[in-house]
Amino acid sequence: MSELALAEARRLVAAAESLAVLTGAGISAESGIPTFRGPGGLWRNFRPEHLATPEAFAQDPRTVWEWYLWRRAAIAAAEPNAGHRALAEYERQQGRCTLITQNVDGLHDRAGSRRILKVHGDLWQERCTGCGHQRRSHALAYPALPPPCPECGAPLRPAVVWFGESLPRVVWAEAERAVAQADVLLVVGTAAQVYPAAGLITRARCAIEVNPTPTPFSSHVAVALAGPAGELLPALLGGGRDKMTTCPPPIPPA
Ligand code: OAD
Repeated sequence: MSELALAEARRLVAAAESLAVLTGAGISAESGIPTFRGPGGLWRNFRPEHLATPEAFAQDPRTVWEWYLWRRAAIAAAEPNAGHRALAEYERQQGRCTLITQNVDGLHDRAGSRRILKVHGDLWQERCTGCGHQRRSHALAYPALPPPCPECGAPLRPAVVWFGESLPRVVWAEAERAVAQADVLLVVGTAAQVYPAAGLITRARCAIEVNPTPTPFSSHVAVALAGPAGELLPALLGGGRDKMTTCPPPIPPA
C-alpha cells in the first residue's frame, strides 16, 4: 500500500463532516474469526445452503444451531482488534459516524462502538419462529436443540439474516440514509459480493476501501488501501478535521 494513497485517504477522512463505515468479516479476521470467502473462509468448508437458509433450519434445526453455537464459542474466546477499536475511538472523538456492519459477531459492540446498524442481524440475539419473541443470549450450549421459546414453546432461531431473507427494514433504511448523507463511506473487510449490502458502496458520495485483497469495487472507489484493517484503520482515523474537498463518487463495477 502506497504512502500516497494513505495520505489521500487521510485527507478525505479529515475533511469529512460525517463518515459512514461499512464493515464485513475481514475486520474481525485479525481477532481470529474466519471470514466467509477466500483462504480459510467458512464457505470453503461449509455449504451456506445447509446452514444459512430458512430451508436448512426447517429441515435440520439442530445442525444449524450447532454451527451457530460453534461460531459463538469462537467469538466468545476472541477479542476486538485494533481495527474495531480505531472505529470506536473515532466515533467517541468525532461523533458524526454511523457504523453499518454485515457482521453478526458483536465485536464492534465490545470495542465500544455505539451507533451500529447490524444489517445481517446479531448472533447473540434469538427470535421465536412461532410468536416472534426476541431475547439476548450468551449461551454456548443448550440442553435441547433447537431451544424452545420461553413464551410459547416454539423453536427459537438465531436472529441473523439468512440467504433468501429480507434485511431488517428499519435498520436497512437507516443504513441507506447514513450512506446518502455521509461525505465519505469507509468500506472495510468486505468482499462486496453479497447484496443488497454491497450496493451501498455505489450510493456513496465518496468511498475509501480497506482490504488486503482487491474487490469488484477496488478500481471504482476514490482510494483503495491494500492492507489489514488492524493496521490501516488506526493510521487512517487519527487527526482532526479539514475543509472538504471534492471526491469522485464510486462507479458500479460492470
Ligand atoms: P467475506 O468473507 O466475503 O469477505 C471478507 C473480506 O475481508 C475479503 O475481501 C478479504 O480480503 C477481507 N479481509 C481479510 N482479512 C482482512 C483484514 N485483516 N483486514 C481487512 N480486510 C480483510 O465477508 P463479507 O463480505 O462480510 O452473510 O460477507 C458478506 C456476507 O456473506 C456475510 O455477512 C455473510 C456471508 O455469507 C450471511 O451469512 C447472510
